Amino acid sequence: MTAGNPTMTTAEIRSAFLHFFEERGCKLFPSSSLIPDDPSLLLANAGMNQFKQYYQGKKTMHEIGATSCQKCVRTNDIDIIGTDGRHASFFEMLGNFSFGGVSKQQACAWALELSTEVFKLPIERLYFTVFTDDDETYEIWRSLGVEESHISRLGEDDNFWAAGPTGPCGPCSEIYYDMGEDVGCGRPDCAPGCDCDRFLEYWNLVFTQFDRQEDGSMPELPHRNLDTGMGLERMSAIMQGKTSFFDGDIMQGLIRLGEEISGASYVSDDYIGPSRSLRIIADHARSVDFMISDGILPGNEGRGYVLRRLLRRAVFHGRLLGVTEPFLGRFIDRVNELMGDAYPELTKNVALVKGIVSAEEERFSTTLDNGRVYLDEALAKLGEGEVLDGASAFMLHDTFGFPIDLTVEIAQGAGHEVDIDGFNREMEAQRERARANVKGDAWGSFNDVWTELSDTLASTEFCGYDADDIDGARVLAIVRDGASVDAAATSETVDVVLDRTPFYAEMGGQVGDAGTLMCGDVYVTVADTVSHNGLYAHRAQVTSAGELKVGDVVRAVVDGTRRELIRRNHTATHLLDAALKEVLGDHVNQAGSQLDDHRLRFDFTHFEALSAEELARIEEIVNREIFAAKPVVTRVMGIDEARASGAVALFGEKYGDVVRVVSVGEEEHPFSRELCGGTHARNTAEIGLFRIVSESSTGSNVRRIEAVTSLGAMAYLEERERMLAAAAEALKCRPDEVVTRIEALQRNLRDANQKLKAALTGGSSDAIATAIDQAVEVSGYKLVIAKLSGLEAAELRNVWDTVRSKIHTPVACVLATVTEKGTPALLAAATDDAAKAGFNAGSIIKAIAPAVDGRGGGRPTMAQAGGKNADGIDAALAAARGELGL
Ligand code: ALA
Repeated sequence: MTAGNPTMTTAEIRSAFLHFFEERGCKLFPSSSLIPDDPSLLLANAGMNQFKQYYQGKKTMHEIGATSCQKCVRTNDIDIIGTDGRHASFFEMLGNFSFGGVSKQQACAWALELSTEVFKLPIERLYFTVFTDDDETYEIWRSLGVEESHISRLGEDDNFWAAGPTGPCGPCSEIYYDMGEDVGCGRPDCAPGCDCDRFLEYWNLVFTQFDRQEDGSMPELPHRNLDTGMGLERMSAIMQGKTSFFDGDIMQGLIRLGEEISGASYVSDDYIGPSRSLRIIADHARSVDFMISDGILPGNEGRGYVLRRLLRRAVFHGRLLGVTEPFLGRFIDRVNELMGDAYPELTKNVALVKGIVSAEEERFSTTLDNGRVYLDEALAKLGEGEVLDGASAFMLHDTFGFPIDLTVEIAQGAGHEVDIDGFNREMEAQRERARANVKGDAWGSFNDVWTELSDTLASTEFCGYDADDIDGARVLAIVRDGASVDAAATSETVDVVLDRTPFYAEMGGQVGDAGTLMCGDVYVTVADTVSHNGLYAHRAQVTSAGELKVGDVVRAVVDGTRRELIRRNHTATHLLDAALKEVLGDHVNQAGSQLDDHRLRFDFTHFEALSAEELARIEEIVNREIFAAKPVVTRVMGIDEARASGAVALFGEKYGDVVRVVSVGEEEHPFSRELCGGTHARNTAEIGLFRIVSESSTGSNVRRIEAVTSLGAMAYLEERERMLAAAAEALKCRPDEVVTRIEALQRNLRDANQKLKAALTGGSSDAIATAIDQAVEVSGYKLVIAKLSGLEAAELRNVWDTVRSKIHTPVACVLATVTEKGTPALLAAATDDAAKAGFNAGSIIKAIAPAVDGRGGGRPTMAQAGGKNADGIDAALAAARGELGL
């Protein structure tokens, strides 16, 4: 069944296709990002996505058409992936497109020529479908030499194509490759469109004629367009003589890694066992790499949720294969090896992608462990065929973060269904609770009013790059407690929307501006500014008498000192980013930042803690740039020009066609150049000074530096100086002597400790030995009475232990010491038989403690006392002798 040109790799097929259409006058476009420039679409799912505006006639091109290889993600059939040879969440779509420039006849002729001449597929194996009543296309295939028996007509489900519920769409014609009878279901009516793997659709030619509207109507598009899509992996399988999407070279490269990691073996036609998990892991890991590389982060909604779900399913199937260690990072490397040449974006941020993957993988592993225990217990309680209740499934989702599809998958594995309706009811109830809870959350709950306002008002014009004080701004709206109102009275807190403003709204890590709005005698204090869909909301309080009304014309004045400090911290953040790259390497990527008038915080990708030398060097480089008093130049330019000039773009950030580029230093070789919408110092010298305050970790492979500049740096240094002065005062020396003084103290302490040790083991041991020698015989036991010095109260117990270990007959003791602090301590103790013979430590201590102005007591075998008068020790010991009748 192998086709005529079986040696072509996926990479060769890709370039042969693109080359074929370029040669015929189509313009080559790179794949667009998986994040579409189209709010009606969650993820790029077809080659035509990036050309939507051309179809609609809003954009035109000189060339007769376009060609591309588009990365696509489709997850509507996620449950099927792995269970056949045709479905995948990620695939590459080769396409050619035209917007009136290429006829149907031409498009079909090219498709046939490429299939039979370049890919050398035998025409006998090709089958064609056309839309029910599309006689024109039927005749075209016939005119190109296709047998009638190889053309069939299919209905709307198969042969009418639309990218989404609205937008360009039209009838289509598909080309299938016959993989051979042995691959198929064997039914007599098996034909293109059948559910089995025999007829593999590899090319879809859409004749995009209509533009479906919200109301379902379908006006004609300005041109008769063309949108074709050929599945690259499917063509690889065909060319390489395989029957499945997963058996071409790239997917096999991934599946082999899965085998290596898990020890499982892949069998091409095993659709339920371990091979299914190997396919799922290979497919999902590839999606994960592409999605994160395009800036999608795991989350709980939208495309973030799609990503999280794919990532978790991959990890889960790893578990099914017995892999408990994190493994997705190895897939990232393998995908990049196999596809990095065709998609350079994969290799740009590898460290960051891996960091995000490993953090999510670790988190989910814990989730799996915890949730699994709960789920297994719940399943064990069920009788045969019983259904797992919705509340348990919800508990797993809500408390353990266990995705519902995994719950279903595991439950089914154990022979149980899950009550999905019950689960959905619990979810809905939780949403209700959440809705009830957000009331009163000032920023979060007012989305509705902001959506309404942004439908009717033009976006606020920001004029704060050049000015921080403007006259003549008009109040367009005032929002109080989530509702649009006409006026705000004294002391009311509201959000004020202006038509233009110098106030910067919180964005890109830079805090919103504060300041004042003035209208005649009415003063309004602004504490913060945020943007809602382009409307700048000045969070403000009327602080004077009078009212601020919609329609008022105000003077808007930003708090200049605060703004200056913010500017400096923002420019310093750019310097820090460049210095980090210089010292640590190009893998450093900004992973987040936050800055206000007091400090800046910068998160970036790096694998280990920074050494003191590295930090010092980074600080030195930033300060070098500051002291060199370099100009900070802002220019507005096209995105392509900006990228070509080497400007650093933020990972995952989407930029418009026109961007702001902030450069520090000479035009030709700037020290730093970044795409940035923030406000900046005019010259680095304004920053004054830069100090790093801390360096820490915020997750795997992401480090955080906090730093201060300008007045903040001064305050930081002053605080340090105060601490040094306080230390000097405590040490009674000058600040510059603190170190030598501390060293001297440490030396003294060491000496003193040594002496003490000697005193305990050497000095007093003599006294103890003498006391033991002089033990006296009392009726039935020996008695040791000793006066020691320099021991602490607790150490008298050690002495008693020594006495006991030396004298093996019944023995008792009365010991006294003067501690280091000069206070007396007494101890009396006896072995059990000495106590039985009449020695009572408790009553002896009680009797003699008054001699040292102390009190104490205890048991017959052990008693202690402290006191105030060390001079009374001799009297105390004498009193003990008296008590014992000696
Ligand atoms: N846009 C068409 C498809 O995705 C080619 O099948």
